[in-house]
Amino acid sequence: MELPIDSDILLRPVILALVAFLISYIAFYISKPSPVSQLSKAYKLPIVGAREGDWFPYTQARWRNFFNFQSALLEAERLSRTADPNNPHQAVLLPVLGTPNLVQLPQLEIQFVAEQPQSNLSAHDHATGRLQIENTLSDPRLLRNPVHNRIISTSLGGQTGNLVPDLVEETASVFQDQWGTSNDFNEVNALNTLRQVVARTTYRVFLSAPLCRDHRIQEAAMAVFDGLGLIAEFLNLLWDPIVPLLAPLITIPVKRKFRHFQNLLAPEVMRRLEEYDARHQTTNLKKKDTEPEQNDFLQWNLNHAKASGDPYMYSPSTLAGRILIVAFAGVHTTTFAITHAVLDIAYSQTPIRSQIISELREEITTCLNTHSSDGATFTKQALTSMLKLDSLLRESTRLNSLITIGLARKCTAPNGLTTPYSKITVPKGATVTVPAYTAFRSPELYDNPDEFQPFRFAVAPCQQRGGGGDEKERPPGSKAFASTGPDYLAFGYGKTACPGRFFVANELKLVLAYMLMNYDIEPAVEGMERPKNRWYGINMIPDLSATVRIRRRSE
Ligand code: HEM
Ligand SMILES: *[C@@H]1O[C@H](CO)[C@@H](O)[C@H](O)[C@H]1NC(C)=O
Repeated sequence: MELPIDSDILLRPVILALVAFLISYIAFYISKPSPVSQLSKAYKLPIVGAREGDWFPYTQARWRNFFNFQSALLEAERLSRTADPNNPHQAVLLPVLGTPNLVQLPQLEIQFVAEQPQSNLSAHDHATGRLQIENTLSDPRLLRNPVHNRIISTSLGGQTGNLVPDLVEETASVFQDQWGTSNDFNEVNALNTLRQVVARTTYRVFLSAPLCRDHRIQEAAMAVFDGLGLIAEFLNLLWDPIVPLLAPLITIPVKRKFRHFQNLLAPEVMRRLEEYDARHQTTNLKKKDTEPEQNDFLQWNLNHAKASGDPYMYSPSTLAGRILIVAFAGVHTTTFAITHAVLDIAYSQTPIRSQIISELREEITTCLNTHSSDGATFTKQALTSMLKLDSLLRESTRLNSLITIGLARKCTAPNGLTTPYSKITVPKGATVTVPAYTAFRSPELYDNPDEFQPFRFAVAPCQQRGGGGDEKERPPGSKAFASTGPDYLAFGYGKTACPGRFFVANELKLVLAYMLMNYDIEPAVEGMERPKNRWYGINMIPDLSATVRIRRRSE
């Protein structure tokens, strides 16, 4: 039979070299045993989502679990406890499309995982792998040296009190824009309007006013997030060997969007750099002309970068890039949290809803009276003492957390990591996770776990003190929204836990308190059930189209 192409072409050196390269590349990957196949050979771990008689059970399970992750998690929980009659704390394999080889350890091992050093289990390696950072980000160095984490926990944490007046101003202004001032009921989309509230209050502490209101900046950031997420998901679906070949091409648009964001911020960053230099000139002559320093993330980061003396750290593109990274970590997550809280309040059934709202209004009023001179001004202390509001956020997040599997970490221990209860050796390269969705709903950890009990974590009324996350300062039995533990993985747990959570607690309490004092909130239709959460692969998010009816309260 004739070859359809001129066979000479196959003998050209370039083509030959290419073919040889491809064959050796593929052979290398095929010969490399996957960490999970090692595991299942050694321990015969149950595979969540596999059915008896499946061809390629692991592959079929990946698809099944992707499209119904909620039941996969329930099955994981059941298998972990029952598959081995001799050990009710078994590890299970949890295959899901687009995620690396997941090994889910039992609930009892959450503490163990959280305590592991980076040299045994690495959260960073997992996250950069899953987001394909080395392929998708124009400047992967931003994450290799994550100074923004320290700046968030120290400066943002420490300045939250001073930032309250700014946040109040922004909250009032954005609610006026989004929810209006009409005393008649209007129906609004919860997620879309609250996303604006969160974007503006969060960017306010990143960039200050008026830049936090610049739609071009918010939209440019959103375009990068969407692009990054989509491309990372796509690359995750591909067969590993193809990724480095295809990535440079398909990441061009998202890298261009990243540059667009950096360009939009450039004038402000340059202005701040000039101000900084003017302020730090040794002659006192010019000092008088300079504006007072801004109190926001850009400025803290700039000061930190200048102090490091490394020109890369204070280059305008690095400074803008860091804003994008923290916005990536903070804006969607916070938007989902407040949307769930508002839906939980609005869709509580009739007598209960008014009871929740009036209890919260009473607490807010009492705390404002106790902690501000005029009885109306929000202060950090007033916010900190609003324990019921804090509890509602914690409870709403418990039932609705985006995080459904927790503490995902890549095993980095050269000889693997041996676990105390499931008694396996996790091989290097495998990714461990622990239950989050099922732990949040575990009857061992919570009474009536499926019930929304807004004040579950607030046992005492408004306290004089009451820490924003510091358990020691709180009444016994209560739990702060921002406090983490094996029973509460919404912000992670251990050394890599979310550094933004103390800020979030204050920001969202302020937003909710403002909202409750100034608006009445009802479901779209009286008696209607709360719109169900949606699952996208491993993530649980609010119904994007859910609406609530709101009206401005008359003075
Ligand atoms: C309700 C809102 C939020 C939720 C539920 C949330 C949740 C999380 C979770 C689960 C992690 C991973 C922890 C781990 O690996 O164990 C994380 C990390 C992180 N979060 Fe948040 N977060 C929120 C808001 C924010 C905000 C507002 C900021 C910024 C101001 C922020 C900044 C970060 C950063 C920088 C990291 C990475 C930490 C690291 O790499 O070690 N987060 N967050
Ligand atoms: C880290 O892993 C090594 C090797 O498996 C083990 O000996 C060590 O105890 C682990 N560290 C912790 C804190 O468990």
